Amino acid sequence: MSHRQSRTLLLIVLCFLCLFVAKVKADDGYRLWLRYDQLPQRERIKSIAVEGKSATFDVVRNELTLLGAPVVVEDSDHASVIVGLPQTSTFIRKLRWEAELNRLGPEGYRIRTISDGHRNVIVIASTTDIGTLYGTFHFLRLLQTEQSIDRLRTDERPALKLRLLDHWDNIDGSIERGYAGKSLWMGMADNRRLVDYARANASIGINGAVLNNVNANSEFLTTKYLNKFAAIADVFRPYGIRVYLSPRFSAPIELGKLPTADPLDPAVIEWWKQKADEIYKLIPDFGGFLVKANSEGQPGPRTYNRTHADGANMLAAALAPHHGIVMWRAFVYDMKPGYDRAAAAYEELQPFDGKFAPNVLLQVKNGPIDFQPREPFHPLFGAMPRTQMMPEFQITQEYLGFDNHFVFLATMWREFLDSDTYARGRGSTVARVVDGSLYRQRLTGIAGVANTGTDRNWTGYDLLQANWYAFGRLAWNPQLSAEQIATEWTRMTLTHDARAVTTIVRLMLESHEAVVNYMTPLGLHHLFWGGHHYGPAPWWDTEKRADWNPVYYHKADSFGIGFDRTKTGSNTVSQYRPEVARQFANTDTCPEKYLLWFHHVPWDFMLKSGDALWDELGFHYQRGVDWVRSTRATWAELSGVIDPERHAAIAKKLAIQERDAVWWRDACLLYFQTFSKEQLPPGVEHAAKPLSEYKAKALDW
Ligand code: GCU
Repeated sequence: MSHRQSRTLLLIVLCFLCLFVAKVKADDGYRLWLRYDQLPQRERIKSIAVEGKSATFDVVRNELTLLGAPVVVEDSDHASVIVGLPQTSTFIRKLRWEAELNRLGPEGYRIRTISDGHRNVIVIASTTDIGTLYGTFHFLRLLQTEQSIDRLRTDERPALKLRLLDHWDNIDGSIERGYAGKSLWMGMADNRRLVDYARANASIGINGAVLNNVNANSEFLTTKYLNKFAAIADVFRPYGIRVYLSPRFSAPIELGKLPTADPLDPAVIEWWKQKADEIYKLIPDFGGFLVKANSEGQPGPRTYNRTHADGANMLAAALAPHHGIVMWRAFVYDMKPGYDRAAAAYEELQPFDGKFAPNVLLQVKNGPIDFQPREPFHPLFGAMPRTQMMPEFQITQEYLGFDNHFVFLATMWREFLDSDTYARGRGSTVARVVDGSLYRQRLTGIAGVANTGTDRNWTGYDLLQANWYAFGRLAWNPQLSAEQIATEWTRMTLTHDARAVTTIVRLMLESHEAVVNYMTPLGLHHLFWGGHHYGPAPWWDTEKRADWNPVYYHKADSFGIGFDRTKTGSNTVSQYRPEVARQFANTDTCPEKYLLWFHHVPWDFMLKSGDALWDELGFHYQRGVDWVRSTRATWAELSGVIDPERHAAIAKKLAIQERDAVWWRDACLLYFQTFSKEQLPPGVEHAAKPLSEYKAKALDW
């Protein structure tokens, strides 16, 4: 070999090495579920014709180009996949699908295999370019999850109109309850990331983003910020994502120098009208406002003795000429003597049923307290037939171990959506309230408080990307099973190895129950350390508001534990329909998962297992810990089928989760033991430290 030849060989080897290292290193999680490598069916798609001209069609074209193998061609005569609208594609127009496509609505799409003489063509059609983008992502998902693409016959439309992420982003770039880095746009916005964020959302059908924290700063309504939001809206538009803002209710005082923010004051009304006009000049397709009013120190109409409906409708009137909407949050609670916080939202808002303007939705958290690991459904669902209602989920894990604990939230959301409100007899599930089929509400929607940030892998923990994914999929179709979503996500994101997929999906489906077990089993709630809400502090009683203290919620004493919400207590259970109320109010029929939510029961209360409450509490905590340990072991066995970088990162997180689960078990059981005065049952491990040590220092994240 000559000197030159050996140099060339060395160069080639080096190049290969670089490629190899790049490939291994590339899996830092940035690509989320949008991975198109190693798709066996890809080779079968020879050429693709995207027939239409717009920024969105460009996105469709780019996305399909990422598949690698097929070529994107101009001419549909030779394409194996055709994407377009009847208006833009002669091929699609000839299919005479207009009526069906119109029925599927502006975001719906049809995917069909058409036999055209000698060839089979896959057609992705819609009445809008956004519809074709959704159809394209659906098609890609079929490839990614290795489903047959031979005889496609799909008609899809989203069940809900508004599918929104709420971002609790602050002006300084921090994110309230955000654990994955900084805001993607409040600091220096990185355009590439904005595009990739929009792309990821479009791939799961999310069509809106509230850009700032509900604990709002008036400055967001100044021209400086509106210009910034207009630029973001320009980036998001091709992906079908509208931007929304959280306005501060008192902005007319802070920015307009008015003496009041009273929603019935003509000058205030005029100020908001002008503000809306200004916003729409900059952002013609602006979505609207999300408002937190008279809650946790935020100003609102109650400050002026006006009602929530007065406040919401005034803002709605300012936005209505531009087709904007108002999402008015139902997360309101006031401190009254002897009061049950779980009752507050219903008491304050239910009487206003039918009083909200047609472009207002009430945004209601899934449960009556505050995004706890488990809550029964909020009693407002099904209780306001003449009010448009949308649920609010928390994708970010404020009360679920931040970005350290592996919890797949789709199971929790499924439990909520499947809850029967009995609003119109048996079968009146929350899902049917939400999708508008029960009360025929015109506007429908759902919102999730985002878990995204500037961390390279977006969510701080690779496995928690699944919750962003699951939220979008459920927003599109609230009937999807948690198992289907978990399976899709795992195949798209982590591995195609069939056994590994089965194992990971099992772990995902088990994870929520496991975390509830080691945090707040049997209906316990809000046992969290004050302020940051990481780790346990059931003893906490120093917050200025009683209902910010765990002792307010568990009410442990020498007799027993739990919040009595029946007739003998706060009677909040009566806010549910009689069928539901009866079930929850009776300890014999109340599901044990909600037992201590609704009842204060003695330590020796017999559970269905035949064990007394105290023992069962111990078993639940231990079971939670055992699950994390066995999950760590199972995860270790998967090392060959997941890329090493993500495998190691996840293993590290699972180690933290085990430490925390043990801490939760020990802190809670030691503390509750001071009331029960009983020994731990056999099989439940003893704490390593005395209670005083758990009390002395918060668990560190
Ligand atoms: C929780 C959370 C707050 C948030 C509030 C809300 O209480 O701790 O940070 O502002 O919910 O949803 O408005």
